[in-house]
Amino acid sequence: MAETASTVNKIPDHVPEDLVFQWEETDFPEFETDPYAVYRALAKDQRPIFFTPNDYRSNNGAWVVTSAAYCRDVLQRPDPFTTTIRYASDNAHWPRRLVPLMLDPPEHTGHRQLIAAVFGPKSIDAREGYIRQMANDLIDGFAGRGQVEFMHEFSRVFPGVIFMGIMGLPVEMKEQFLHWEEKFFHDGTDAEKQQVGVEIAAYLKALIAEKRANPGDDLVSELIDAEVDGERISDETIEDYCFLMYIAGLDTVNGGLGHIFRWLADNPDEQQRLRQDPERIILALEELLRIHTWIDMSRVLSRDYEFHGVLMKAGDRVVVKTPIASWDEARHECPFDTDLERKINPHMAFGGGPHRCAGSYLARRELRVAMEEWLRRIPPFQVTPGERVTYFTDGLLSLRQLPLSWDASKAV
Ligand code: HEM
Repeated sequence: MAETASTVNKIPDHVPEDLVFQWEETDFPEFETDPYAVYRALAKDQRPIFFTPNDYRSNNGAWVVTSAAYCRDVLQRPDPFTTTIRYASDNAHWPRRLVPLMLDPPEHTGHRQLIAAVFGPKSIDAREGYIRQMANDLIDGFAGRGQVEFMHEFSRVFPGVIFMGIMGLPVEMKEQFLHWEEKFFHDGTDAEKQQVGVEIAAYLKALIAEKRANPGDDLVSELIDAEVDGERISDETIEDYCFLMYIAGLDTVNGGLGHIFRWLADNPDEQQRLRQDPERIILALEELLRIHTWIDMSRVLSRDYEFHGVLMKAGDRVVVKTPIASWDEARHECPFDTDLERKINPHMAFGGGPHRCAGSYLARRELRVAMEEWLRRIPPFQVTPGERVTYFTDGLLSLRQLPLSWDASKAV
């Protein structure tokens, strides 16, 4: 029999036998077609904490926390659950620790406040018209055709063009930018991703120099003028910010759009109700974020620590499985029901604690505008009959393809 990582990895002596549980989403063949069924099954199993011998991302053993209370607890305690110690694979495409994600408070705080302000309501509200225009430009390309491969023609492109506009990147860069996006997040080999990382870094360096010389009404110019803890920010740190926003802001929204639009396609009655009453979209979006929470996080122990009676050792990795916490009965009433009118919905789709998503205001706006414009212009749509929908099974949970179709004569 071939040796797998799970047969090789030794369980550390401090891990009690009754907490060892081999569970990896990638072990389930159905994860490729219905990942949320796999998550729901684990949620029903109610294991708030376990140790998996073979975490597929680190290829090593890791603690996994799944209850909402434990997830929150880990995220809210940067000591001892630090983001400053990462495994090599976490940072293979960037030469340094990414600011602010890989800093702990108090070092993290000033940078974080700046980024949160730059992506805050004032800045995003002012750009809503642009976001809406981008959605409509893309919809124009396929509305009258009656079908689209949603992931390729809309979902991957939409957050990319918005990012370019907000950061002040020239439109001529679009093809190059989308090529990087494709290689970096989807089709690239490790060597190609490394190469793309180098190219993006070089591009950002030149862009920052250009914005220093010719500032504009964009976020890069704003960052150049800003201060953290009373001091101007170095070009290196601005490059870090931009690269982090690139990796944090593109594929995440792409993933969410795919999950939400698949759900709408599979639920024609709810789709129609939202079309008839678009005011309901804001609340509905929160429920769709909860039931599709698609990003888990990880931390590393900076020292030995007893967590709810479980001894963890310095260097242990902890996976914070927020997609499972979304179905925790202790936090959400009737968690397995999808209720688009749910009023109290403290989901963790954007994480929690000091590193909670700094771009959530922009992300929500992009998702909401996409839903509003689609439902306004495209008549009832479904997954094209006979087509298969599958998901990427490594990295960020997102759909590989989503072929949608509708009655072209009714599109506007
Ligand atoms: C629906 C889309 C998005 C989701 C689900 C999402 C989710 C997350 C999550 C879970 C984290 C926490 C990571 C951790 O604690 O390890 C995070 C952090 C972050 N996100 Fe997002 N994100 C989204 C979109 C965006 C966008 C559009 C931007 C901005 C361009 C952005 C910028 C960031 C930044 C800068 C951080 C690091 C914050 C810090 O370290 O203080 N995100 N995001």
